[in-house]
Amino acid sequence: MNFINGVEAKIADLKEKYSLKCTIPSLKVGNKSAQTGIVQGGMGVGISLSGLASAVANEGCVGVIAANAIGMIEPDYFHNHIEANVRALRKEIKKSREAGNGLIGVNIMVAVDCFAQLLETAIEEKVDALFLGAGLPIKNIPVEKIRAAGVAVFPIVSSGRAARLIFKSWEKMYKDIPDGVVVEGPQAGGHLGFKYDQINSESCKLEVIVPEVVEALLEFQGRFGKEIPVIAAGGIFSGEDIYRFFKLGAKGVQMGTRFVATHECDADIRFKDAYVKAKEEDVTIISSPVGLPGRAINNRFLKEVLQGMKKNFRCPSKCLESCGAKDAQYCISEALDNARKGDLDNGFAFAGSNVHKVGSITSVKELISTLRNEYTIAAFYDMLKTEYDKMADKLAAKKEEYSTVLSTFSSEVQESLRKTTLENEIKFKQKMESMSEFIEQTKSEYNAMLNKFYQLSEDIAILNSGKFNLSN
Ligand SMILES: Cc1cc2nc3c(=O)[nH]c(=O)nc-3n(C[C@H](O)[C@H](O)[C@H](O)COP(=O)(O)O)c2cc1C
Repeated sequence: MNFINGVEAKIADLKEKYSLKCTIPSLKVGNKSAQTGIVQGGMGVGISLSGLASAVANEGCVGVIAANAIGMIEPDYFHNHIEANVRALRKEIKKSREAGNGLIGVNIMVAVDCFAQLLETAIEEKVDALFLGAGLPIKNIPVEKIRAAGVAVFPIVSSGRAARLIFKSWEKMYKDIPDGVVVEGPQAGGHLGFKYDQINSESCKLEVIVPEVVEALLEFQGRFGKEIPVIAAGGIFSGEDIYRFFKLGAKGVQMGTRFVATHECDADIRFKDAYVKAKEEDVTIISSPVGLPGRAINNRFLKEVLQGMKKNFRCPSKCLESCGAKDAQYCISEALDNARKGDLDNGFAFAGSNVHKVGSITSVKELISTLRNEYTIAAFYDMLKTEYDKMADKLAAKKEEYSTVLSTFSSEVQESLRKTTLENEIKFKQKMESMSEFIEQTKSEYNAMLNKFYQLSEDIAILNSGKFNLSN
């Protein structure tokens, strides 16, 4: 067998050995299950419509349509924005259903003026899941209707406290709890659920808040006797990142930025190109007219706003409760919609902190296959590394044991030599025999461990070589 064949055989062996344990786990979505625990985050305005959502759902993940200001894709939004929103949402859900059988969710901001109508529409259309953010989804939630339609509910939170408050309130008001939760950290794209000074603070890191939320939900899990999946979001870019958050207790991840740079994303190519071109220093935190910080790619539009320029805009209604529409320098929905259409002179692109890592536009299929492969490598690597470390400890312990026994034996030999009696001689012979047995056994155990140790080092080297690809 030549070297290449040897490596390939080894890879095949590794895949067989670990593939079951090392694939991205499935995700419970109410009474249903997504084959792969990746949720494509809802992205407004019009960035994630039926095109992106259905492509993601068809790959066994959860595709999400963003409902906020979705009516901007209709011609009459500025005359009748609520009707336009409802009509557009219904159309997009239907289109995504026609495109396949995967799981489709709808993302709605709790604070929008037509929250009730959008919610009603999504329930009527029996979407698989609702992702409710930008506010706490506590009051006026039609839980009975939601259950009757078989729709799962996932509030989007940014702390364990918020998660506990929502679940406690639901329990009290509805004798029910949501089906899971999305924890969105401060590295996410779009509006952020943090104060400006929390964005870079240690205590608000996604790595810190995910375990906090997992912990906060344990009591509800126990009381209601059901698993409550926690989905981590914000700055998750690679399969290795996904693996890291699963290890911290997440049962799924939500990703936005990576899905923008796909052929199927519903935004104009100029929006996607802005992602490919973005450098690390281009990513900025804005102060959105709706009173929240947001993460975006800096451009002329945003620089002019920062300098105090007031843009021309139309406001059909104060569509978000917190919007300072009267004094605003621009309308966030209109600016985002312009960007969606590729007019970045009159708008800007929201994006996550890792947008500078986007190198090209790819297909959803390829992206998910890459993520799966990276996850598997990270999981393999972690398992091998754990085995390797354990084996190294065992080897060290065996060495220690061996030298202790040898030194005890040598003092016993010396002692026996000093007092040579017949009785001692017999004892000495017996001791010698058992000692050589011990030495032989220890040697063979040691050699077996050493072989295993070398084999693990070799496996790790193969994984590190970049030759490992699960998808072929
Ligand atoms: C362009 C863009 C628009 C977004 N719009 C929304 C939105 O309308 N509602 C929402 O809850 N989250 C929104 N998000 C957040 C995403 O759903 C997701 O949680 C986030 O992008 C995850 O972080 P990542 O981009 O680093 O993967 C948006 C994100 C981006 C990049």
